[in-house]
Amino acid sequence: MRVFVTGGTGLIGSAVVAELLGHGHTVLALARSDSSATALKTAGAQAIRGDLADLGALRAGAAQADGVIHLAFANDFSSPAAVAVAVAVAEEGAALATLGEELIDSGRPLVTASGTPYAPGRSSTEADPLPTIGPVGGRSRSVAGVLDLASRGVRSAAVRLPRTVHNQGRGGFAGLLTEMARRTGVSGYPGDGAQRWPAVHALDTAVLFRLVLEQAPAGTAWHAVDDEGDAVRDIAAVIGRRLGLPVEPVPQEAFGPLGPIFATDQPSSSAYTRQTLGWEPRQPSLLADLENIQP
Ligand SMILES: NC(=O)c1ccc[n+]([C@@H]2O[C@H](COP(=O)([O-])OP(=O)(O)OC[C@H]3O[C@@H](n4cnc5c(N)ncnc54)[C@H](OP(=O)(O)O)[C@@H]3O)[C@@H](O)[C@H]2O)c1
Repeated sequence: MRVFVTGGTGLIGSAVVAELLGHGHTVLALARSDSSATALKTAGAQAIRGDLADLGALRAGAAQADGVIHLAFANDFSSPAAVAVAVAVAEEGAALATLGEELIDSGRPLVTASGTPYAPGRSSTEADPLPTIGPVGGRSRSVAGVLDLASRGVRSAAVRLPRTVHNQGRGGFAGLLTEMARRTGVSGYPGDGAQRWPAVHALDTAVLFRLVLEQAPAGTAWHAVDDEGDAVRDIAAVIGRRLGLPVEPVPQEAFGPLGPIFATDQPSSSAYTRQTLGWEPRQPSLLADLENIQP
């Protein structure tokens, strides 16, 4: 397949591009800078210049492809100002709607990144709905719009990502904890730290994106979860040890708009995804991968 990828230079996207190229697909990827275009070409992909706000570039990319994988998002939450998050959410919504429109009645796949939901008192499953409130609730509404395109001839699907998608000790919520620890001199966690976050390695995630692109029926959601839930104080403990910093609880407010999400116990299961698509994570768990953090 010739696949149009957004976010192909990111932590997850670069793994997805390599996975696709390694399995006989070709990749056309959105590049918003010269350096990103160079990185994509070096990886073996073709680059198309533009950013998520450039709806013409998105249309052109989707029109040339047999399928689309969307991973770009303009906010990495390292400076989680509420306004910046809202702008990024709105921009992504418009971008996804544009990609979807281009594929209507084509039967071609549109696979978008999403997030694992929260189910009180148990691990969430692929059958649970996404939360549409909170700082990133708008992202869930955009994903729902994509899945609705199943009834309009798009083989749409969502890969729901856990709180930390990691590679070489970097990425996701655990990566934000690490950055905060470096900045403040304390490896902090909100609440008592017993809340659990799910996690997966980026290389395993990439395999799932490929399988979903190749096989998933229209309108379906999948869970890229390896660790069902790591206690946040265990994550903070590895970070603190690697950086030689004290490990302590810190107020939820210190985490900005993401504070309430950081404080929530939100384990998640991928049993249905593994069973149905034959996906089996093989890479190191989050706690093992965090051992790659360098002081
Ligand atoms: N990593 C995680 O733990 C995690 C967990 C849950 C969900 N997710 C979601 O998964 C997706 C990918 O995450 P990631 O960790 O791979 O992110 P990342 O490493 O920050 O990469 C972001 C990618 O998006 C591109 N991008 C950002 N803003 C853009 C814009 N305005 N126009 C065009 N391209 C833009 C970046 O391009 P440049 O290289 O040019 O900057 C880069 O390729 C995001 O939707 C993220 O929210 C990630």
